[in-house]
Amino acid sequence: MVQTEYLKADEPGFARAAALLRSGLCVAFPTETVYGLGADASNATAVARIYEAKKRPSFNPLIAHFESAEAAFGQGRFNDDAMKLASAFWPGPLTLIVPMAANGTVCDLARAGLNSVGVRVPSHPAAINILRRTGTPIVAPSANRSGRVSATSAAHVQEDLNGRISAVLDGGETDVGVESTIVDCTGPEPRLLRPGGIPNDEIEAVLGRPLGHRPPPSATPLSPGMLTSHYAPEADVRLNAVSVMQGEAALLFGTQAMLGLDKALVCENLSLSGNLNEAASRLFSSLRRLDSSGAKTIAIAPIPRVGLGEAINDRLERAAAERS
Ligand code: TXA
Ligand code: MG
Repeated sequence: MVQTEYLKADEPGFARAAALLRSGLCVAFPTETVYGLGADASNATAVARIYEAKKRPSFNPLIAHFESAEAAFGQGRFNDDAMKLASAFWPGPLTLIVPMAANGTVCDLARAGLNSVGVRVPSHPAAINILRRTGTPIVAPSANRSGRVSATSAAHVQEDLNGRISAVLDGGETDVGVESTIVDCTGPEPRLLRPGGIPNDEIEAVLGRPLGHRPPPSATPLSPGMLTSHYAPEADVRLNAVSVMQGEAALLFGTQAMLGLDKALVCENLSLSGNLNEAASRLFSSLRRLDSSGAKTIAIAPIPRVGLGEAINDRLERAAAERS
């Protein structure tokens, strides 16, 4: 057990976060998508602390975060597609998987031994501030225990990781709410590994052609976001629910009715106006609140598969998957 320091997003808070990171410790901080659990990417001892705090299976590689695209370009080999995507969407919720540069400093453990590296330039001012001060790539998986719902506030981070990490910097609730979109640019055709904060059609518009498909789930997991059960609350999850059963928690979307709503133990709406961006930003905090009601099942209304609806459905399907 360590004492987890609570840091504010002010000058002393940023300075302390950067100092802890430089000394090889783990600090959680906000990005525009979800809170990340950061460590110095070049320091294997620091990276090991992340795996330990999260209880993360070590075959899952981590994303390295940079203060600028120029800093990220030094760590990998970017083909034309990768360059196009980087200039269109960085800073922002896009992660590119690229072949590692010969002189790259993201350590083996952070890459889980792969010869590629996941890189991203976040747009959150607190994240950029910390990255500037540390001056080294910072790997940061979502700041939750492995397999659980991602954290979108400092309080969520504390719920999962208090006593297991050195500090959490509180930058309020995150904006996007689902993790970055991951595109694999290691081959001739860019492939989508994980839908996320940038809708697929926006990526395809920049590429000028459709994205390749994800490999089948039986293949070696390139991405834990691709593990079947992930992002899971304690309660069971029932998708595309049109009615509620006695004692279930209900998660609605828009003005779609759910039959038997009066039988629900608790109920929330992801976005009354049917706005998918708002729904994404509220997804993980709603799941955590409904979960804490003690309901055994969360019934979730159908969510349209357009825009960020794709990432929302992806996370919900994993939350609903058979657990090991
Ligand atoms: O929005 C986000 O991406 C957040 C914030 C904190 O930046 N981070 C995040 O990290 O979601 P994490 O560790 O929960 O998910 C990272 C994903 C994993 O699915 C991992 O397998 C994949 O990125 N990944 C990282 N490096 C990879 C590589 N070299 N090849 C394939 N997948 C990789
Ligand atoms: Mg995660």
